[in-house]
Parts: sequence; structure tokens; C-alpha cells
Amino acid sequence: MANVQDDLLKKIIAHAKEYGFIFQSSEIYDGLSAVYDYGPNGVELKNNIKEYWWKSMVYMHENIVGLDAAIFMHPTVWKASGHVDAFNDPLIDNKDSKKRYRADQLIEDFMAKLNAKIEKEIAKGRKKFGESFDEQKFRETNPNVLRIQKKLDQVHSRYVQAMNNNDLKELRQIIIDYGIADPETGSKNWTEVRQFNLMFETQFGSVADEASKVYLRPETAQGIFVNFLNVMKTARMKVPFGIAQIGKAFRNEIVARQFIFRMREFEQMEMQFFVRPGTEMEWFEYWKNYRLKWHKNLGLGDELYRIHEHDKLAHYANAAVDIEFRFPMGFKELEGIHSRTNYDLSRHEQFSGKKLQYFDPELNKSYVPYVVETSIGLDRTVLAILSASYMEEDVSDKGQTEKRVVLKIPPALAPVKAAVFPLVRKDGLPEVARKVFNMLRFKFNVAYEEKDSIGRRYRRQDAIGTPYCITIDHQTLQDDTVTIRERDSMEQIRVKINQLPQIIEQRVNMSSLLEKLA
Ligand code: GAP
Repeated sequence: MANVQDDLLKKIIAHAKEYGFIFQSSEIYDGLSAVYDYGPNGVELKNNIKEYWWKSMVYMHENIVGLDAAIFMHPTVWKASGHVDAFNDPLIDNKDSKKRYRADQLIEDFMAKLNAKIEKEIAKGRKKFGESFDEQKFRETNPNVLRIQKKLDQVHSRYVQAMNNNDLKELRQIIIDYGIADPETGSKNWTEVRQFNLMFETQFGSVADEASKVYLRPETAQGIFVNFLNVMKTARMKVPFGIAQIGKAFRNEIVARQFIFRMREFEQMEMQFFVRPGTEMEWFEYWKNYRLKWHKNLGLGDELYRIHEHDKLAHYANAAVDIEFRFPMGFKELEGIHSRTNYDLSRHEQFSGKKLQYFDPELNKSYVPYVVETSIGLDRTVLAILSASYMEEDVSDKGQTEKRVVLKIPPALAPVKAAVFPLVRKDGLPEVARKVFNMLRFKFNVAYEEKDSIGRRYRRQDAIGTPYCITIDHQTLQDDTVTIRERDSMEQIRVKINQLPQIIEQRVNMSSLLEKLA
């Protein structure tokens, strides 16, 4: 199973490069680790995801407005937010392999393995007992399951306590006590665990001293907090209201593998929702449900998503869940929903000396609002969509074996919506095809192709997920009809040229995706 999934990730990486979605940064210099560039199709896909998010959050919620704050912020922002002191990962080195790992991830992976062992025992039981299998009873009585579960509970409780107390010695001790080995070499020769701050630093101006130190933001959220009053006043917002933002964030990740899943420069789409204290749990539920619906609405498969409750809450949160996605590497975080209390605004009040409060006319008093945050990684969404939509299909015909790779990207997000082909490069067909192309390009991102056989042109468009291919042939010259081929079914029908905009629009427009969400 693991190999099949590894293969899928490798295939996606190769496909993303070959078809102009994602390139390694500075590739001609052998690349820069965990930094990626988006090519012509990648940038279109990314822009469409941003549009879907922005419209669903800002346009569809009367009480949410947008913001685009700068990446650089006053350094005290990061003191106030707690990032200077607490935005750390516990790292551990293997003395033999010289590889560096996150201690928390080693333990979490170990617990995931124990869980997988339990699932295996259950699968065996189910096979053995067939219809009469009672999973609950099996879990409570099977000696193997009980033994593994006991071990899992022990590791889990020690791990949660160590993380909550920031106890680095205990984290190492768990790794030693349970014989957790370097996943790549099997060595158990570990160093101490150390804290490692994830923020990138740089200098402002020409004098390199402490006073000129600035950070590249590790999250976009703080730009929203420090603009809370500006936005509330100028947009005349009343609590509850939200501020949404899309932008770059930077983290010096210790273990940055797995393609665009964990990058050092990435993009977030975040929304802070300011609420009356005491109502945050209702809003937390609302946003958890709404965000999950947003994901499932893409139609990639409901079984690809699950909710994960946090074991360890971030330094600012009183409730937190992740929406996890089944990536080729397994279920992993795609989006976080946090109830951040009034931590950030209160800290900024304290550090800036400015009041960051809302006067609530119903209660006739001022307070620092509580905040519910939704935070999704744009790059991880790209990876989720690419991995769920990548299909290899057998399209053998009339004794000829043929395979196609098709990206079944939700049509509203597809980089190119339609491709226009003249059947041959003569007889006036290219001229008519150009006319069709010019008519459609005002409404959609369309491609024009006349090189190679029609079959090869179809394969190229399938490979980038283009929902429609339109072919202009000799009959077009007589009756103004063309063939239009649909990506998933590969069905072709003949339609009038003037019907094309409507047919394409119906399938690819963002509004129908948004209407399903409403
Ligand atoms: N403001 C809250 C916050 O930043 P987070 O869980 O650290 O929370 C939110 O990050 C989302 O950002 C994650 O769910 C993930 O999708 C994305 N993300 C975080 N670190 C990332 C990285 N190194 N590379 C790519 N995406 C990342």
C-alpha cells in the first residue's frame, strides 16, 4: 500500500512538472529545498482556488471583508503574538545518519503505526468471523488488540503531557523507551531534543543590528489583528464580523519533504471572525461545518476528508480542529480551525498601548472580541486537488491498447476551460477555429492548438484537466456546427457554434459551485 501511494506522489510530481503546473525553484542551480514555482497551468489552478475561497468567504458573507496586509510587520508584532518565544518545533538529530527530525512527528508516526496494527487485527477478526463479527466486543476482548491499545494509551498520555509542558527531556525519553528508530536507517542513536524557532529573520536598512531585525511573517493572521480597528471603522463593521486575507507566509521548516505539502515559502487563505465573548463555541461549530462543506462541495469524494481534534492546543487557542485530507502520504492537515480567544488582540493592546475593543450597543459595554479563525494552505489545496483528480484510464479502442492520464479537476477550477482545434491545418479550418477561439476567450481561459493529430491534442488537454475540446471540421464550413468533447465521459456531440458559450458556461462557472454551497 505504502509503495503504491509513494508512487502516486512521484507520478504527481513528474506530471506537475511535465505539464507546467509546478517546478522546483531555481532548478537550473539544482533547486532550493522546499521552495516551488507555479507554471502556466499551476498559476491558473491556484488563482481559481483563490477565487472559490474568496467569493465563498467574502462575497457570500455580508459580514466578511477583505484585506491585503504587507509581509513585513513591526518586529514587536511577533513578540506580542508569542511567535518569538513559542513558535518552535522540537528537533532531534540522529547521530549515525546525521538526519534531523521533529521529535513530535516521530512519536506521532509511531502512534499511527500502533493504530494501524490494531486495524490489521480487526480486519483479521472480521475475515475470520464474517457476518457475526462484533467490532466493539473484539476491541474489548482480543488480547492482541488490548495489548497494543494499552501501549498506545501510555505513549499518547505521556506525549500529550510532554507537549503541553514543553518537556523536551520527556519527549526524548519517549523515543528511547519505545525504541523509536530513524525511519530511514533504523538507527536509535539520538541526540538531545532542542527547540528550533521557525521564523526567518532579515534586516531593514543598511545597519545590521538587533534594532533593524525584521521577520518574514510565519502566518498572515497577525496582519488582520493589527488592522482590526482600521477595518472595523472604515468598513463600519459590527461584531460578529470577519476579515479575510490571502497571502504568503514563511517558515524555516526542519523537515521539509513531501513536495508542496510542507514548504518554506507558502500561501495561506485565512479568515479571522470577531465575536462576542461567550459565543465563540457556536461560531467555532459554524465555521468547522462551513469549511468542511466548502471542501466536500468540490466533489472530489467525501471519504477523502476527516476532522481531527488537536491533542495539544496552540499557545493561543481554547479549541482547535484540523480538516484532514487523504493525501498520497496518508491523512494529513489541510486546514485548521481555531478558537483563538481574545489572546491576540489583548496581547497587541498590551504591547502597543492602544485599545483594540468593540463597543457593543446591545450590551452597552466595550470588550476585546474573541476570534474564531479558519486557516487553509493554498499549496496543500493544490496538492489535494491534483492527487484526487489524477487518473490513469484504459481507453483501448478497436484492438489498439491505449492509456490516458486525465486530471479530473473540478471544472470551475480547471486551468483551461476549453481548447479549440481545427481538424487539419488547411481548407480554411484554422481561420474558422481562430474565430471560435476569439469569441470564447472573452469569457473563458481557452487554448488554441493545431499541431499533431486530434488524438494527441485530446491527450494533452486531458493531462491538464481541460473540460471541453472543440473541433472545427469540414462540416463546420457548411452548417456552422462543431464537435464538442467532454473530458470525463469522452463523449462527443455536434452543436452550433453559437451554443458553445452556454454549454461551456453551464459546466465551468464558479457561480454554480458557489450556489451549491449556499
Ligand atoms: N494562523 C494559523 C496558522 O497559521 P497553521 O496550522 O500553522 O495555523 C494553517 O497553518 C495552514 O497553513 C495549515 O493547515 C496548512 O494548510 C498551511 N501550512 C502550514 N505550514 C505550511 C507549510 N510549511 N507548507 C505549506 N503549507 C503550510
